[in-house]
Amino acid sequence: MYTKAQIHSLQSDTKDCLQNPHNIELETLRKVLKFHEYQYYVAAEPLISDYEYDVLYQQLVSLEAASPNLITADSPSQRVGNSLNTNFETLAHLVPMLSLENSYNAEDLNDFDRKARESASLESISYCVEPKFDGASISLVYENDMLVRACTRGDGVAGEEITQNIRQIRSIPLSIPLSQYGIQQMEIRGEVIMSKKAFNDFNEKLKAKQLGQLANPRNAAAGSLRMKDPKEVGERNLDAFIYHISYYNLTPGAEIPALLKTHSGSLELLWNMGFRSPQKEKKLISNIAGVIQFCKDFEIERDTLPYEIDGLVIKVNDFALQEKLGMTSHHPRWAIAYKFKARQATTILENVEFQVGRTGAVTPVAKLQAVAIGGVTVSSISMHNEEYIREKDLRLGDTVIIERAGDVIPQIVHSIPALRKGTEQIIEFPTTCPVCDYTLEKEETEAVWRCNNPDCTAQIVERMIHFVSKDAMDIKSFGDANIRKFYELGLLANIPQIYTLNYDLIGNLEGFGKKSVDNLQVAIEASKTQPLYRLIYALGIRFVGETTAKTIASHIHHILDLQNLSEEQLQGFEDVGIKVANSIYHYFHDAKHIELIKTLELLGLNMIQTNTTAVDGNLAGLNFLFTGTLTQLKRAEAEAMVEARGGHILSGVSSKLNYLVVGEDAGSKLEKAKKIASIKIITEADFVDLVKN
Ligand code: IVH
Repeated sequence: MYTKAQIHSLQSDTKDCLQNPHNIELETLRKVLKFHEYQYYVAAEPLISDYEYDVLYQQLVSLEAASPNLITADSPSQRVGNSLNTNFETLAHLVPMLSLENSYNAEDLNDFDRKARESASLESISYCVEPKFDGASISLVYENDMLVRACTRGDGVAGEEITQNIRQIRSIPLSIPLSQYGIQQMEIRGEVIMSKKAFNDFNEKLKAKQLGQLANPRNAAAGSLRMKDPKEVGERNLDAFIYHISYYNLTPGAEIPALLKTHSGSLELLWNMGFRSPQKEKKLISNIAGVIQFCKDFEIERDTLPYEIDGLVIKVNDFALQEKLGMTSHHPRWAIAYKFKARQATTILENVEFQVGRTGAVTPVAKLQAVAIGGVTVSSISMHNEEYIREKDLRLGDTVIIERAGDVIPQIVHSIPALRKGTEQIIEFPTTCPVCDYTLEKEETEAVWRCNNPDCTAQIVERMIHFVSKDAMDIKSFGDANIRKFYELGLLANIPQIYTLNYDLIGNLEGFGKKSVDNLQVAIEASKTQPLYRLIYALGIRFVGETTAKTIASHIHHILDLQNLSEEQLQGFEDVGIKVANSIYHYFHDAKHIELIKTLELLGLNMIQTNTTAVDGNLAGLNFLFTGTLTQLKRAEAEAMVEARGGHILSGVSSKLNYLVVGEDAGSKLEKAKKIASIKIITEADFVDLVKN
């Protein structure tokens, strides 16, 4: 719809509007807002952050309020929304889905309350405050107890029909006891969200499949709703909060349900009907001063929630009063959103640095023009790998929208190609290691380029940093900076040297008083007795995270038992798949790794699983063979248990065999063993007892 030249000129107007909010012509502001609405709702290519849009919209509203005679019928403030993409069937909502007015501070909230009180001639108003869920809004229609259709918000008047996709969301009931409440048809509104956990899990899965990552839970939820395949929607673990009944009609002769007198009552009713309404999250507050305090307090709590919210919604609780206050064409006058500090910003991608991690993976890191988001200055963000850069078409000099949300690491949401001047440059990925110049390699199934030089300085340092880190050996007072410094000064060259540091030399370094040297020494000594899983994790074996390390540790006695386990046996452990088993197997069949472990053992590090039910080496010297189908244990797991306790697995029945463990449907091996008197034939349950005792 807009030409490149128009986009450039409108962006430059946007900048002016944002920089000089008090010196803009209404006409320009309307043009700019219309343009951004088009980009957001129609083209699905927003060119400014939501926050920036809100600032512009607020400006329009206040300018129009000052000169109501200048309001035009086509002003963005005078309509509900825009037209739609029409890939899914477009259906009209029973009641238009209005938006909310925004507020950012106590003054805005006091204004809202004052206007409402004046209009209703009341001394004070009771409000119901609830989270403003950061997802994608939907409307649902239930008829005769059944969910009959679900739509996106669309332009507010009509949305796209997405019933099949919505049916995949488990927190949305497919039928509800509407008739019990005397209701025949009901339209409700809510927000589809992806929890932080579902989002992180989903991104992990994408990563494992070498697919591009999703930028944030909101995009993930919104994108999911319009997917062609409902099954895929189901795999995304979406959730939905329902917060509004927009329409209902009663079965003849029925009375309005008693709860439908207040907003809080309606949340309770929705909850009772089986919806995830913010029934537990809501707070009833008797005046605006209390609301303001609650908003301030809640913003601090924001990151402790399991899902993203971008503010709170303050609603007049009494329905009769809501009706009295009415609505504009854009928003109800009985509700207002209190928006938290923005977490998105636009900035410039100035440079790219390539960092080499402990496994040799080369990660491109975007160096950005520093920008403050949510009180934190962001100037560098990981771009994961080359594919990520290509997929998002990121170029040096690009204007990018970045986001920093709670415990989600900062992300580049997307670049804004429309703002390119022609001087932007394609990001070239290096072909050799930026640290040691070794030729980079990429496995077919992987997205990352890797430096496979084991002596690469960057990897050595990163491995040590990982070794001492909090979730690994947790050597406090030994941060990244110290490791780098000691390495550069030649005081520390590899992991074992952590345990042979020359504390006298360190004590002479600037910034190292006696106390800090003592603390470091104590922390290093203490780490020697860390539980085995921490050491396994600290070694930095590829694909072995903390959880896998715990699993492995629970199945062995001494770390070097891992030398004796086959890949198949390793796969018998919970959550250990082919890839992980292969990595562990190769790690423990590499002489230099074994040497490292033996050196660490000589230095006094704990190599033993201490808090296990396994008894040390209680099967030492005994030979086992399993036959038939085991019911409690996987075959590989049972074999691993034997080997981890010093026993051996034989491949056939012979006089060397001490125990034949017989599962269901045992065949010829059992018959053969019966003929050799020295072989003890035991059941799976006997075996489990034997292992434990
Ligand atoms: S009430 C007439 N309540 O925020 C009812 N909206 O920025 C108006 N939203 O379009 C909506 N959480 O999609 C309401 N607890 C909540 C909400 C909420 C999120 C969304 C909704 C709305 C948008 C406005």
